[in-house]
Amino acid sequence: MNSILSGLGMSRPIIAAPMAGGPGTPELAGAAASVGSLGFVAGGYRTVEALGEQIASVRARTRFFGVNLFVPNPVPVERDAYDRYARLVQAEADRYDLDLTGVGPREDDDGWSDKIQLLLDDPVPLVSFTFGLPSETTIAALRRAGSVVVQTVTSPAEATLAQDAGVDLLAVQASAAGGHSGTLDPATVPPEIPLGDLLAQVRAVTTLPLIAAGGLGTADAVASALHAGAAAVMVGTVLLRSEESGASKPHRAALADPSRGRTLVTRAFTGRPARALRNGFTDRYSPVAPLGYPALHHLTGPLRRAAAAAGDPEAINLWAGTGYRHATEEPAAQILTRLTDHTPMITTV
Ligand SMILES: Cc1cc2nc3c(=O)[nH]c(=O)nc-3n(C[C@H](O)[C@H](O)[C@H](O)COP(=O)(O)O)c2cc1C
Repeated sequence: MNSILSGLGMSRPIIAAPMAGGPGTPELAGAAASVGSLGFVAGGYRTVEALGEQIASVRARTRFFGVNLFVPNPVPVERDAYDRYARLVQAEADRYDLDLTGVGPREDDDGWSDKIQLLLDDPVPLVSFTFGLPSETTIAALRRAGSVVVQTVTSPAEATLAQDAGVDLLAVQASAAGGHSGTLDPATVPPEIPLGDLLAQVRAVTTLPLIAAGGLGTADAVASALHAGAAAVMVGTVLLRSEESGASKPHRAALADPSRGRTLVTRAFTGRPARALRNGFTDRYSPVAPLGYPALHHLTGPLRRAAAAAGDPEAINLWAGTGYRHATEEPAAQILTRLTDHTPMITTV
């Protein structure tokens, strides 16, 4: 296992998670690599052209990085439920002179086949997947091209499927994680199993090396995830306020706001379960949001962008894991170094 990680330039068993939608940047990936961690190009939501540009920008900083893609696992929304939800959310959009009700649901696959082709034509050191499991053929082709392939899993059953499909590593994501759950079954909110317990459950069904993710914010928490059998950890939320993060100003401020007391799992923003800080939008719409990814993502996108530009945290997806209180305003390299203070460096024998 250590040889896979050291082959990726890693001397610290910590990975800076992919964070689509703005927070993940080439600067963040470069900062991670500079201290022997590993960072990502978040390929989700981008066009294939923009993905190519991001890869080039990270390559200018380091040759070690991963690319993360959303695997199509559509949950088509029922038209009536979509229209009803669009009319409800329009109450928020009115404040920004936006009309969300004029167009029907947009279902797409996030440019899947073009992105895979790009990664086959111009391979990168690591490719990771979330939301769905690619076919065995796609996984095998990426591995033949020289990429290490990682699958996000949220349960032992998903770990078994991913192992059978031929991936190299599993990113075991607990419910505590910020942002979307990688669950293959978005109709069900993943149970709140502590990361250590989930690692043990997954370890019982697979011998693949595990990357532990979800809620990690301190060096002690990192050390205990490694002690529980993970080969490395992956952190997202704790980097959101770092200098290199592309998180919006209101998102950064909300993470540091002592009056924001908790996170919750909601599908109100995108139609898929994701953990966020509680705000006005989650209070009003979590109870009534239908299932439906990516249609709900596209529906609320313009509203979220307008709210972010206006500095209004109440209508933004404030993605955050349960460890958000540990997110500090520091250079990312310092955060990643501090989190692995109590942890042996990776050595190859
Ligand atoms: C703002 C944000 C965006 C995220 N975007 C992605 C993504 O694009 N792809 C992905 O696989 N995981 C994504 N995640 C989840 C991370 O991969 C990881 O599971 C999570 O950050 C770990 O939990 P933590 O946030 O508590 O550290 C995101 C997380 C956050 C906080």
